[in-house]
Amino acid sequence: MDGAVMQIIESRADLQAWSEGVRAAGQRIALVPTMGALHVGHLSLVEEARKHADRVVVSIFVNPTQFNDPTDFEGYPREREADLAACREAGVDVVWMPTAEELYPPGAATWVEVQGLSEPLCGSSRPGHFRGVTTVVTKLFLAVRPHVAIFGEKDFQQLAVIRRMTADLGFGIEILGGPTVREADGLALSSRNVRLGPRAREEALRIVASLDRAESLVAAGERDRGTILDAVRGELARACGARVDYAELRHPETLETAPALLTGPTLLAIAVDFEADPDGQGAAVRLIDNRVLHPGRAGASESPDPRPERTAVSGPTHETRMKHSATGHPGPRIDADVRNPEEIPPC
Ligand code: PAJ
Repeated sequence: MDGAVMQIIESRADLQAWSEGVRAAGQRIALVPTMGALHVGHLSLVEEARKHADRVVVSIFVNPTQFNDPTDFEGYPREREADLAACREAGVDVVWMPTAEELYPPGAATWVEVQGLSEPLCGSSRPGHFRGVTTVVTKLFLAVRPHVAIFGEKDFQQLAVIRRMTADLGFGIEILGGPTVREADGLALSSRNVRLGPRAREEALRIVASLDRAESLVAAGERDRGTILDAVRGELARACGARVDYAELRHPETLETAPALLTGPTLLAIAVDFEADPDGQGAAVRLIDNRVLHPGRAGASESPDPRPERTAVSGPTHETRMKHSATGHPGPRIDADVRNPEEIPPC
């Protein structure tokens, strides 16, 4: 950033005028779309965006059409002032905070839908979710007209769907993926983590343990899809107050089910629904996470992503773990097993 004051823009017309001016001056624009409640994961995408453009726009919009559960939409954290401060600190040029009325005018009837890739995994348990994402991202792209847009690999399927949509509609926007940023204990940062009760927060580490378990098995030479999934599901089944929505092995680009014997890079994708704690703390929260497994190579998750378009973000590893917890959770930094099974209280 050149020291200019960050602009907060609400109206689409103002945003478009700004974008046209920047383009006319021959400068490149990067867009980081978000729903706010910004954390270090989002800010890592901003940092990456700055490497690829002269101007960075962060959009903050809690998009109603991608929530299939109204309670989830209403309870989604909204932290306007903290978000603006974080953007200022990160050197963002423009924060665009559109209104729902402007993005979805009365009578809005137009949807953008990517078939195939939107259907498995989160698509099957959250009907309409990706249609809401692709519709709103289209509206963001049309208004901001960025040269490049950055999305997190934490939402791996979302990234795949947006790449497909961008190619199919000829947006001419470069789509980059940024690696998942994690808490010190390995839990992927998510705006929803703050809604986990203390017990659910602890149990959520089962997700990390199951990813680590799969990676160790593959590193040790295991190639059988069923064996790996049994181990992953076995680990997840130990989480109290949690229901596994899915744990699947799929091709990282087509998202087709992986072959019975893994031969190449394979996506392990997981979604778990956590209940509120028994003492009433926290709320019901759904968490997703993933890892690309690399059969045939040691150090499975540390290999670069197989997709040619991906730009590596700083650091030698594929994922970034924070040295200190963003939510104040005192969990230890872990790389393999999270803790002794004996320590787990019975459900
Ligand atoms: P949101 O959940 O706010 O996420 C905004 C972006 O941050 C997404 O690209 C997401 O993948 C990325 N992100 C989230 N957690 C991350 C982490 N721990 N490390 C790195 N990146 C992370 O995803 C959405 O919003 C919406 O669906 C959106 C694309 C904005 C459309 O409404």
